[in-house]
Amino acid sequence: MKQLTYLLFSFLFISPYLFSQNNFTYIGADQCGMCHKTEKQGSQLSIWKNSNHSKAYETLKTDKADQIAKEKGFSTPAVETQECLKCHVTGYNLDKSMLGNKFKIEDGVQCETCHGPGSGYKDMKVMKDRALAIKNGLIVHEEKEKFCITCHNAESPTYTGFEFEEYWSKIKHDIPKTN
Ligand code: HEC
Ligand code: HEC
Ligand code: HEC
Ligand code: HEC
Repeated sequence: MKQLTYLLFSFLFISPYLFSQNNFTYIGADQCGMCHKTEKQGSQLSIWKNSNHSKAYETLKTDKADQIAKEKGFSTPAVETQECLKCHVTGYNLDKSMLGNKFKIEDGVQCETCHGPGSGYKDMKVMKDRALAIKNGLIVHEEKEKFCITCHNAESPTYTGFEFEEYWSKIKHDIPKTN
């Protein structure tokens, strides 16, 4: 009986983690782009596609990348090296069940890298209700710069500094104000 109580207790204690963390799956940038591509919405899809973030995976396939990996002492090609993938690519280390069939790891640093896996918030009804979207996995950033420097820092082998205003101006994708 004691054991059963213990089991039950552990389940109650652990289950909130299980259910809250693993519900949401990655759907892929093109799915976000279905609604976030018009000029009226703010052209997020094309801004991202034209940015280096969308090419961060391809970058790891270059000779330059392999050279850097080698110099760092890795014996695998850059595109197979965890210590490179971790800032350049989302999804490479996740179970297939976490990735929708339209999700592409080749998209590198993509919408859901920064905004969280979208399966729970992608529907119009949820998206239009900011609080509900956040409850369903949407990540918005109050402190943008702090977030950027989780990757833009000296751990990056090619790091030469990070100037927030300048970098943000290259990738910002605001929804145009209407009034
Ligand atoms: C069915 C259409 C639709 C899809 C699909 C969609 N969105 Fe949205 N999203 C919207 C609309 C509409 C708004 C604006 C809501 C508003 O202005 O009140 C929005 C708002 C947002 C916001 C701003 C939230 C805020 O208030 O700061 C972010 C970030 C966002 N979407 C990211 C994404 C990402 C990432 C994906 C893909 C995983 C995605 N959206 C998929 C329609 C969509
Ligand atoms: C998940 C890691 C990650 C985060 C978070 C991130 N970046 Fe990046 N960023 C990268 C990588 C990797 C590259 C290099 C892509 C390439 O060249 O292949 C890059 C490149 C860039 C570039 C292009 C630089 C150039 O050479 O022209 C800009 C601009 C940029 N990021 C801005 C930002 C800003 C602003 C933020 C925060 C809002 C941000 N990034 C957050 C990983 C990240
Ligand atoms: C801590 C995050 C991080 C790690 C780890 C990381 N990178 Fe990057 N990488 C970046 C960012 C951010 C940029 C964009 C640099 C910039 O312009 O500020 C970048 C840019 C690059 C570029 C393009 C730079 C250029 O000037 O052409 C190459 C190539 C590259 N990384 C290779 C690698 C390789 C190989 C590894 C593994 C050994 C690696 N990166 C590990 C974050 C990272
Ligand atoms: C490198 C990280 C990064 C990537 C990649 C990225 N975003 Fe964002 N996004 C941000 C940040 C930071 C903000 C500003 C703070 C916030 O609202 O979270 C933002 C804001 C937004 C907003 C709200 C704009 C507003 O005016 O309120 C929308 C909508 C959005 N992103 C959609 C997308 C979509 C769709 C994609 C992919 C096509 C995408 N984002 C890719 C970091 C990113």
